[in-house]
Formats: sequence, C-alpha cells, structure tokens
Amino acid sequence: MNHRDSASPSVDYVGEQITALLEEPTTTYGLARTLRAAAKEIELNRYHRASQKAWPNGRIDEAPKKVQIGGGAHRIDGFYNIDAVPPADLLWDVREGIPLHDATVRFLFSEHFLEHIDYPRSAKYYAREAHRVLAPGGKLVTGVPDAGYVLNQYPAAPERATEMIERWYANRNCRDDINTFLDVVNYVFRDQDDDPAYNPHYWAYDHEKLVQLFTEAGFTTVEPWPFDPTVANPKRQWASVYVVATK
Ligand SMILES: C[S@@+](CC[C@H](N)C(=O)[O-])C[C@H]1O[C@@H](n2cnc3c(N)ncnc32)[C@H](O)[C@@H]1O
Repeated sequence: MNHRDSASPSVDYVGEQITALLEEPTTTYGLARTLRAAAKEIELNRYHRASQKAWPNGRIDEAPKKVQIGGGAHRIDGFYNIDAVPPADLLWDVREGIPLHDATVRFLFSEHFLEHIDYPRSAKYYAREAHRVLAPGGKLVTGVPDAGYVLNQYPAAPERATEMIERWYANRNCRDDINTFLDVVNYVFRDQDDDPAYNPHYWAYDHEKLVQLFTEAGFTTVEPWPFDPTVANPKRQWASVYVVATK
C-alpha cells in the first residue's frame, strides 16, 4: 500500500521512514537525536489514536470518581489510571485533553507528570481540563520535583549534593556525567531527553508556580498537600512539592 495515498495512516508511514533513516550510516548524530524524539511521539500517538477510535468524541462512558494521571507503574487502588503508555486503564495523551465528562471527578491525582508536558500550552490546558472534569468541591492533587528546593541549595555543600545524586541518579546511566552541582540542577530541569527509558522535563515548578497555574485555571484555593503515602508514591516524598487545589 502507498501510505501517502491513503486517508490517515501517514503517521505510520513517517514512523517507518524514521526507522529506516535511523539505520542509515549517513544519518548524522543531530538528526538521529531528533528522529528518536519523533519516534517516541509516534509510538505514543499510536496508543492515543487507538483509544480515540473507541471514544471518538473524546469522552469515555465511565465516570470514575477517583482518577490518577500519569501514574506509570504506580497504580493506586480504587483509582482509574490514565496514562499515555501502558500499563493504565486508559491510554490517552492528556495534552489532547482529559477524556472525562464535566464535573464528575471528586479526586484527581498526579505526581511527577506535569513537568513532562510542555509549558505553557499543555500545562495550562491540563490545569483548565482538571478544573472542568472536577465536581464542585473536588480536589486536584499535583506533585512535581521541587525545583525551588534544588535552587535553594545552590551552590550545594558537598554532602547535600552527594545525597541528591545518590537518591535520584545513582542507578542511572547519566551518573558519570554529573560532575558539578550545576549538572544536578540541569538534570532536574531537563532530565535525560535522549534515552528510551526517560522522558524529558519541559518545565520546572515550585510551590509559587503551582499556586499561580491552578489559580489561573479557576481553582478557589491552592494549598500545600500533606504527603499521604497510601496515595502517593513513597519514593517521591523527598524534594518534591505537592499542592491540593480545590474547585
Ligand atoms: C516520571 S513518570 C511518573 C510515574 C508515577 N507518577 C511516579 O511518580 O512514579 C511520568 C508519567 O507521565 C506519563 N505521561 C507523560 N506525558 C503524558 C501525556 N502527555 N499524557 C499522559 N501521560 C503522560 C508517562 O507515560 C509516565 O508514566
């Protein structure tokens, strides 16, 4: 089949072309880097398109009361899990909106997800979508790496820098490239963008930024969230900032 002649599978066609180009010895390093990023997006897009076929109006039939976005492998009992990639109850790219009905959710939770979507377009859209799907009085809990915590340590005492590196990067293949404390700051702001195991960070957040983002989206109050390990991933407690925004 000539994909270019068909109505919609051009994304798959581009995916095949990228795979072929990545195998070409003449493909330069910079181009290959960009192609790998595009290939990641295409994989995510395949999952999203499959779910879109099932729910063409962008709303699922169910109306879950407790929802987790971007939970990855950290599923929470009693929550409906939406993520761009498996495992999840629904595979959906949340940059396209939250596929739930208006004012139906009581508790919407995410941690270490928001920094993985671009700012301002997708982060601000997510905040507005969260506000739309929550019922009056509903809660949005959001946790992210606390960029303020890291910046407040700069320039860090050696023992503090060592603690951060050991907690966050000890088992990563970037460990040898963290040579100064500013490298830690860089990884917190960007993460590893050219590694199949990790997704880049697109924006850094602190308490003030989260309050501003969710206030702008229409939430009535935005306050610190007391970390609850029965909901949140215990490994995220250290040096993260969590807020609870109430509709
Ligand atoms: C760093 S992981 C965090 C996983 C988990 N919340 C935790 O703290 O262990 C980020 C998660 O966000 C998901 N994610 C990133 N972009 C997304 C998007 N556009 N739509 C839905 N999920 C997304 C990823 O697939 C991944 O599962």
